[in-house]
Amino acid sequence: MKVLNLGSLNYDYVYSVDHMVRPGETESSYGMETFCGGKGLNQSIALARAGVPVYHGGMIGEDGDLFLSVCKENGVNTAFIKCVEGKSGHTIIQIDKNAQNSILLYGGTNRLLTKEYIDSVIGSFAEGDYLVLQNEVNELPYIIEKAYEKGMIIVLNPSPLDEALKECDLKKITYFLMNEIEGKEITGKEEPNEILDVMSRQYPNAKVVLTLGEAGVLYREENKTLKQGIFKVKAVDTTAAGDTFTGFFISSIINEKPVEEALRIAAKASSIAVSRKGATSSIPKWEEIKI
Ligand code: RIB
Repeated sequence: MKVLNLGSLNYDYVYSVDHMVRPGETESSYGMETFCGGKGLNQSIALARAGVPVYHGGMIGEDGDLFLSVCKENGVNTAFIKCVEGKSGHTIIQIDKNAQNSILLYGGTNRLLTKEYIDSVIGSFAEGDYLVLQNEVNELPYIIEKAYEKGMIIVLNPSPLDEALKECDLKKITYFLMNEIEGKEITGKEEPNEILDVMSRQYPNAKVVLTLGEAGVLYREENKTLKQGIFKVKAVDTTAAGDTFTGFFISSIINEKPVEEALRIAAKASSIAVSRKGATSSIPKWEEIKI
């Protein structure tokens, strides 16, 4: 069994601010740092640090060498990452005094995936292999269709929400990992249990992880619902907390841990990520997950 992540790689330009800049306002930042991130890359690093070998696929620009180094340092296989003409994806991230973030995304080369490229990458995988996805690359509906035809187990974090998501056949997804906002958008419901009820009706074969911020996480599989609280830490930067959760949860499932334990491990890992600055740099190593 192999694991593929077809996903984004971004340079995150992170500005520390008092408050999120308001329309028409000019605000001075306290500081600025650059980190490697992107929901896709963060998920892959989290899988690798949790001990699961992962292949990362996606497009980087001429400025993308650092992504390859970060992947290699972390044991993420880069054989499917393609370097193309253009600028890699990047983000402008504001972190306010409460450690909340706001993210402006420039897709760059993350949006240059072609059907031929997707066919050739997915062609190297087989039935029962895992595919981890988010929505920062183009051609998401096609990727899902091709991976499903192959019989891959598809994991989706439907973030960021956009029109492309509406074209995806979500019946082909095995694991959803999403927050309340995404849950509301997909189901039209606000209350967490109602979100899960609609997901169970619409996608009866799927397993759903719904993250609720401070209130923890709910998990739904058929008629079983589980709850996992958060591990309290002093929040420094919430960037990549969701991606860390995804990587550690899926790695635990791949390693055949009971779902209850997988949720606990993932909650612990994402709490550590929240207590540190940056995206890939904030993701813990497996040895740090003592629960
Ligand atoms: O989920 C966090 C990630 O979202 C950041 O690393 C940033 O690149 C954006 O894609």
